[in-house]
Amino acid sequence: MKISERLMRAKPSATLAVNAKAQELRAQGKEIVSLAVGEPDFQTPQHVCDAMKKAVDDGFTRYTPVPGIPELRKAVAGYYDRFYGVKATQDNVIVSNGGKHSLYNLFMALIDPGDEVLVPAPYWVSYPAMVELAEGKPVIVPTAPENDFLAQVKDLEAFTTPKTKVLILNTPSNPTGCHYPQAQLEEIANWARSKGIFIISDEVYDRLVYAPASYSTLSTFWEKYPEDVAIVGALSKSFCMTGWRVGTTLAHPDLIKAMIKIQGQSTSNVNSMAQKAALAAFEGPWDLVDEMKVAFKRRRDIAYDIITSWPGVICPKPDGAFYLFPVLNMFFDEETPDSASMCTKILEEAGVALVPGSAFGDDRCIRFSYALDDEVLKTSLEKIGKVLMKK
Ligand SMILES: Cc1ncc(COP(=O)(O)O)c(C=O)c1O
Repeated sequence: MKISERLMRAKPSATLAVNAKAQELRAQGKEIVSLAVGEPDFQTPQHVCDAMKKAVDDGFTRYTPVPGIPELRKAVAGYYDRFYGVKATQDNVIVSNGGKHSLYNLFMALIDPGDEVLVPAPYWVSYPAMVELAEGKPVIVPTAPENDFLAQVKDLEAFTTPKTKVLILNTPSNPTGCHYPQAQLEEIANWARSKGIFIISDEVYDRLVYAPASYSTLSTFWEKYPEDVAIVGALSKSFCMTGWRVGTTLAHPDLIKAMIKIQGQSTSNVNSMAQKAALAAFEGPWDLVDEMKVAFKRRRDIAYDIITSWPGVICPKPDGAFYLFPVLNMFFDEETPDSASMCTKILEEAGVALVPGSAFGDDRCIRFSYALDDEVLKTSLEKIGKVLMKK
C-alpha cells in the first residue's frame, strides 16, 4: 500500500500531539490542566438540545438537500441581516460539517494546482495543510506583535505574485484573539480586489468580540462585491456546538454551486438532526453568547495581567475569541530552544498543556486558551510563571 504523495506532504495536527502527551502524563497519574482547548467551557443551550431531541422523535432522520434544509439556509442568510444588515438569500448559503469543512470545500473549489494562497502568520493551524491538500501553495506572510499580529496591505503586497489567487483572513483570530478593525479589513479587501485576489474571511469567532471593540466582518464588503469574498461562519464557538459540526459559507451563488458539487460527492448533507438544532440556535435566544462574553472578557483580563507581568513578555491585548498569544522567546535557552520544547517543559514541570506557536507559524510564541474556570486559570498561569522564571 502506498499513501498518496499529497497526503504524505500534509503535517499532522500539532494540537493533537500536545493532547497526546497530556494524556500520557494523565495515564501516569499526573494532574494536568489544559490551557490548550479550542472550545468554550459552557454547555450547548437547552433549546438547541431540545430541537435535536424533537428532530429524532419526529423521525427527521433522512437525507436532506446537500447544502442544507431551506429553512436553515434562510436562517443563515437572516443572521447576516440581523447582525450586519447584509441582505442575502438561501442561494448564497451552504451548510457544511463545521467551519473546517466549509474552509476545506472553499479551498477545493477555488484552488488549481500551483495557485498561491496568502496566509498571514500566525494562522489557524489547518490553513496551510488545506491549501496543500488542494494542491495550492501556501505563502506565509509574517506579521508583528506590535501590530496586534494583523496583516498590513504592505506586508501582503510584498508576498503577492502573478500566481496569487486567494488571501485567507481570520478575524477574530485563533491563535491571537486579535480582530481587524473594520477600516483595516476593508482597506485590505479593496487592495485584494484591485489585484484580483479572492478573500476567504474566516469569521467563526464573530460573536465573541468584546466591548468596547465592535464587530469585524467582510460580510458588508461581500454584499457590495459578492464575486470577491466568501465568509465562513460556524455555530461551534458562538453556541458551544463544537461537536455538532455545523459550519456555514456565505458566497456568490456560483461558488455555492461549486461547493455543493464537492460536498455532494463527498459528505452530502450535514446530519439532519443537527440541522434542526442549528435552526433553533439561529432562531435564538442568544443569551448564552452574552453570558460567555462577560466570562471570557473577565478571564482575558486575569490571564493578560499575569502573562504581561512576566519580564520582557510582549502580548497584544485581544478583543475576541478566547486566546492569548504572547511572545515568550526571551525564556528560551539551550535546553528549551523553541516553542515546542518550552511547552513540553511547562507540561512536565507545571502540569499545564499549551500549544506551541510553531503550530501557528510563529515559533516565538505560545498559545494560551482561557476557556476555563477563573481560579484554575489563575493558579495554572502562576505555576507557568514559576517554571519560566526559574533559571
Ligand atoms: C479560526 C478557526 N477557523 C475554523 C475553525 C473550525 O471550526 P469548526 O469546529 O466549526 O470546524 C476553528 C476551530 O478551532 C478555528 O479556530
